[in-house]
Amino acid sequence: MNYSLRPATTALHFSDIIILDRACFPEDEVIQPEKGVYWLLWADGKPIGYTGVRDAPYDEPGAVAIRTRSCVLRGHRGKGLQRRLIRVSQRWARSAGLKTLLATTACWNSPSINNFIRTGWRVYQPAHPWMEKGTIYWRWATTWPMRAW
Ligand SMILES: CC(C)(COP(=O)(O)OP(=O)(O)OC[C@H]1O[C@@H](n2cnc3c(N)ncnc32)[C@H](O)[C@@H]1OP(=O)(O)O)[C@@H](O)C(=O)NCCC(=O)NCCS
Repeated sequence: MNYSLRPATTALHFSDIIILDRACFPEDEVIQPEKGVYWLLWADGKPIGYTGVRDAPYDEPGAVAIRTRSCVLRGHRGKGLQRRLIRVSQRWARSAGLKTLLATTACWNSPSINNFIRTGWRVYQPAHPWMEKGTIYWRWATTWPMRAW
């Protein structure tokens, strides 16, 4: 399978993201890709995943953006694709001159938690937690390495 990761730039890309979002997060509020910077993951020309970055919800010191969600369709999971999605946002943050990226995961989401550890993120406690109880908050400073191990 030939995977590629490209910026989402058109209305068609945004509607592909919403279709993927419904498949991966059927219970959650629908994503608004036009309100951030998003990437689509393609497998042999078909969209099979996405991720994005948007403005940070609170004025955390030095934090100027937050990762939104990662989605990889079943059938493509377990191939390291979420780590590719995380790294594209890290590279973007560096090139945009940001100091820090934030992210959140549910405490039961072992694959995501392991992937944040493996891409160099650290857990922190925000002054004003903005997600429900049981959320893990992550931060990554753009001066840190992109791979922990
Ligand atoms: C979470 C999600 C993005 C992971 O995507 P993925 O491309 O399969 O992830 P990767 O292949 O990069 O990594 C999966 C890692 O988790 C590990 N893993 C998988 N299931 C696991 C489990 N139940 N417990 C612990 N680790 C697990 C895998 O072994 C792999 O690690 P490894 O490469 O060291 O073996 C995908 O499952 C998904 O879209 N889920 C639905 C939406 C979601 O929960 N998104 C994340 C919240 S923002």
